Amino acid sequence: MRIVITGGNGQLGQALARVLCAQHDIVSLDLPEYDITRRDDIARLVNHHPDLVIHCAAMTDVDGCARDPIAAFRVNALGTHNVALACQRANAAMLYISTNEVFDGTRDTPYLEWDEPRAINPYGASKLAGERMVQMLLTRFYIVRTAWLYAPGRNNFVAKVLARAQAQRALAYVDDELGNPTYAPDLARAIAALIETEHYGIYHLVNEGIASRYDWAARILQHAGRNDVTLTRTKLAEFKRDSTPPRNGALTNFIAAHTLGIRLRAWQDALAEYFNEPMCQ
Ligand SMILES: NC(=O)c1ccc[n+]([C@@H]2O[C@H](COP(=O)([O-])OP(=O)(O)OC[C@H]3O[C@@H](n4cnc5c(N)ncnc54)[C@H](OP(=O)(O)O)[C@@H]3O)[C@@H](O)[C@H]2O)c1
Repeated sequence: MRIVITGGNGQLGQALARVLCAQHDIVSLDLPEYDITRRDDIARLVNHHPDLVIHCAAMTDVDGCARDPIAAFRVNALGTHNVALACQRANAAMLYISTNEVFDGTRDTPYLEWDEPRAINPYGASKLAGERMVQMLLTRFYIVRTAWLYAPGRNNFVAKVLARAQAQRALAYVDDELGNPTYAPDLARAIAALIETEHYGIYHLVNEGIASRYDWAARILQHAGRNDVTLTRTKLAEFKRDSTPPRNGALTNFIAAHTLGIRLRAWQDALAEYFNEPMCQ
């Protein structure tokens, strides 16, 4: 297949290009040459004659989205509208990467693919608007919701914990925000399997298991051999930030696991592999 990846320089975009290039013809597009918010760039995407567009480009700074919701909706909703129109014109299928933050996090169990989304912050609301654009304009689409992504050599939660541990000997992380730490190369491999199926629909693709930010930070410090750092628990209510994350943002991969046999390994195993990557040591 000829596959166009938007947000090709991002952590997932790069992981996807690495996994898919052996079997597919890949075109990676990103800022500044290609901007999903520019109407003129719709034609640029169509001119690549894709069979499939994997749409990763997004405003992913969750707190930045809370400070500037109009920017969040311009990129995540209107930009996705443009990408979906390009897919319509190119007669291409689309795979839209969405987020666990489309849910409000008020329930006590992980969210399934058919649970009712209700976003509680501008990032989640703008990504949910993107889902609606895709569903309105296309029939051949996959919506893949994922959570808490990290990849080697990128600025993400893992890198931030390690950087803070370099500067301070005492760290605190919340133990009442839950999610699924997800290794971008694992997600890329699951997407590679999914796009072979033409089994369109909504999917939750995350590494198995649930962690709090505290659990995740503890495991990161353990892998880094930083038992000199004192880690304490705190609560979301005590942690001031611009965005309000869902308290329980954990997802269950039900559909891909039970209909297609696509499962991601346990998050603890994926994190161990991350620490074996040469650039993470
Ligand atoms: N990171 C997570 O924890 C997480 C969790 C759940 C879902 N997701 C979703 O997963 C996808 C990939 O995330 P990621 O972590 O790989 O994000 P990332 O590393 O921030 O990559 C996003 C890419 O999109 C580009 N981009 C931003 N605005 C654009 C525009 N107007 N036109 C074209 N490209 C633009 C960015 O360029 P600049 O860097 O120059 O802005 C960046 O290269 C996103 O859709 C995100 O919403 C992420």
